[in-house]
Amino acid sequence: MTTTKPGTDRPGADDLDRRLRVVVIHGPNLNMLGQREPAVYGRETLDQINQRLTALGKQLDPPVTVHTFQSNHEGEIVDAIQQFGGASDGIVINPGAFTHYSIAVRDALSAVAKPAVEVHLSNVHARETFRHQSVTAPVVTGQVVGLGSVGYELALRFLAGHLKTTEDA
Ligand code: DQA
Repeated sequence: MTTTKPGTDRPGADDLDRRLRVVVIHGPNLNMLGQREPAVYGRETLDQINQRLTALGKQLDPPVTVHTFQSNHEGEIVDAIQQFGGASDGIVINPGAFTHYSIAVRDALSAVAKPAVEVHLSNVHARETFRHQSVTAPVVTGQVVGLGSVGYELALRFLAGHLKTTEDA
């Protein structure tokens, strides 16, 4: 697993083989998973989720190099989408609360124009009204909502299959 700040590393920049590269970006407060409202978000920590995704990536066909990133800061999420998303084949993103209002995050996803899956651990549609709107949803390939951390795995599996199909085409 690699976890870096924007500007310090480009995932897979020196990869000579054609492994697929997917960046998993977690937005604000997701660093507190495990302690944060466990009844809503579960007891797993972000590290445990990231480690599982990294291991899953190795097992997929084609294998996927998974790079993970988390920030509580909007500008750093924008930087990560531009830098890591731009250097990757696909993006899995849980923008956290930025989902509901960050035009900057939406514009970054739109600008890099990579296949992207938006993940929410909780069923945002069964929660407060302000969580029902996603400003990022129209610019991603699809969403996985309310399935807990399994949603990240499904997103990664989808991207591996999707990218394989588009590469073969
Ligand atoms: C979340 C849902 C958001 O409404 C919330 O602000 C989060 C987490 C989820 O994964 O369920 O931080 O994105």
